[in-house]
Amino acid sequence: MRKALKVLGLILLVIVVLVGGAAAYIALSGIPRYTPGKVELTVEVTPERVARGRRTADMLCIACHMDADTGKLSGHRMPDLPPQFGVAYSANITQDRETGIGTWTDGEIAYLLRTGIKRDGSYAPPWMVKLPNLADEDLKDVIAFLRSDDPLLAPVKHKTPPSEPSFLTKFLCRVAFKPLPLPEQPLPRPDAGDHVAVGRYLVNAHALCFGCHSVDFAKVDDLHPEKSAGYLGGGNAMPDLSGRKVLTGNLTFDETGIGKWSEADFVRALRFGVRPDRSVLLYPMVPYPELTEAEARAVYAYLRTVPHIQNAVPRPAAQEVTGADAGRAAFYHYGCNSCHGDTGLGMFDLRKGARDFPTDEALIAYIRHPEQFKPGVKMPPWDGVIAEEDFASLAAYVRKLGLRASGS
Ligand code: HEC
Ligand code: HEC
Ligand code: HEC
Repeated sequence: MRKALKVLGLILLVIVVLVGGAAAYIALSGIPRYTPGKVELTVEVTPERVARGRRTADMLCIACHMDADTGKLSGHRMPDLPPQFGVAYSANITQDRETGIGTWTDGEIAYLLRTGIKRDGSYAPPWMVKLPNLADEDLKDVIAFLRSDDPLLAPVKHKTPPSEPSFLTKFLCRVAFKPLPLPEQPLPRPDAGDHVAVGRYLVNAHALCFGCHSVDFAKVDDLHPEKSAGYLGGGNAMPDLSGRKVLTGNLTFDETGIGKWSEADFVRALRFGVRPDRSVLLYPMVPYPELTEAEARAVYAYLRTVPHIQNAVPRPAAQEVTGADAGRAAFYHYGCNSCHGDTGLGMFDLRKGARDFPTDEALIAYIRHPEQFKPGVKMPPWDGVIAEEDFASLAAYVRKLGLRASGS
């Protein structure tokens, strides 16, 4: 008996030492590195390619890489990364040759976007997008955009601090989050006449709806999106820019999903961010005005074919703040803070509205219909959503945030 106990004790000791050693190893060595492979690629920068690439970047890259201070893609701290994963900074991807990607080759960019491995062999964790199924031509378009004279990419000298991944992130990067293989076959665009195929491509490969809209980022299958746990059934929790937890919607045609939505309802929600009940979708569900009406319908057509999942996803209740400031109350009630944060900066700087629209009349007109001022804008139209009596105090509050920013 005593001997058995002794042996058990020894085994336990060995386990403790092994686990402790492994933990120390993971903590000290960080995210694993890999040997970067090679992609032979030279992309011709034509105006058509650049325009299509910009559109993809509007859907996939700009929110994460936009630096509100410079107005260019010079990177920033990611405010919405759940703290258990540590602190991450999106990189400077302007054409600066020292701190940006001015010296990266087309092949190096392609390799990173396909696999997640940077040219120095470091691995970009899951919050950097990966595009294993994007059509070859669409990938080339993105690279052409990155090489173009688009003002968003003009060189900015700005070195983003190194990210500080948590132990959990380092651990997950050893067991779950791994680099993806390069495609073995050429990847063509879907046949434009096949609506369901076009929709499937947008959801799974191009606009990447499935990652957020399946149940858990850790159980997503990047290579075979349809095999992701809870595929498109929603319920994945993520913070908005005010730190509030928002769950993704159920996009299947179950009763608890969008089964009762008409095609027109869906197209409006997707392109402009307004639901059939006139509530506005909260961050990180930023509208997709860059999708054409036909593309948004194609997504609807595809979603109809997806197996139903029963999952009634609760929506966050409207945030009610008390106090004398009616504008501040409206700001929170309608969820402006969801995209603009508590200070008005968020990922999209609302504070410049005070300067861009000097009269309240103009500012209110913008808030009602931003798309009439700037086609393709990702700010939802609030006409008919905000109660008429709330516009004036809301505009005053936007000015207050703007003044605070300019320090006067
Ligand atoms: C969800 C946020 C997010 C999205 C979306 C995103 N990125 Fe990134 N990106 C990051 C982060 C974070 C890093 C830094 C990764 C790290 O810490 O290693 C990064 C790194 C990079 C780098 C490496 C630069 C360097 O110097 O190391 C390139 C190039 C890049 N991103 C391009 C893109 C492009 C192109 C897109 C759109 C197709 C895109 N990113 C979409 C967050 C994002
Ligand atoms: C970055 C994560 C993210 C991406 C990418 C994303 N969504 Fe969402 N989506 C959300 C979140 C979060 C919500 C819930 C918003 C809320 O409660 O106001 C949502 C809500 C929705 C809703 C409303 C559902 C309902 O029941 O009210 C629709 C429709 C929708 N998304 C469609 C799409 C489509 C189509 C795509 C791809 C083109 C997409 N989303 C991409 C995060 C995302
Ligand atoms: C779904 C995300 C989202 C929500 C919610 C949202 N906005 Fe915006 N807003 C944006 C984006 C994106 C921009 C940047 C537009 C651009 O490209 O110039 C913006 C810009 C602005 C600007 C600055 C305009 C300028 O160019 O000077 C004002 C003012 C503004 N928003 C007011 C509001 C108010 C008020 C609310 C709440 C009623 C609100 N926003 C809610 C996304 C959002």
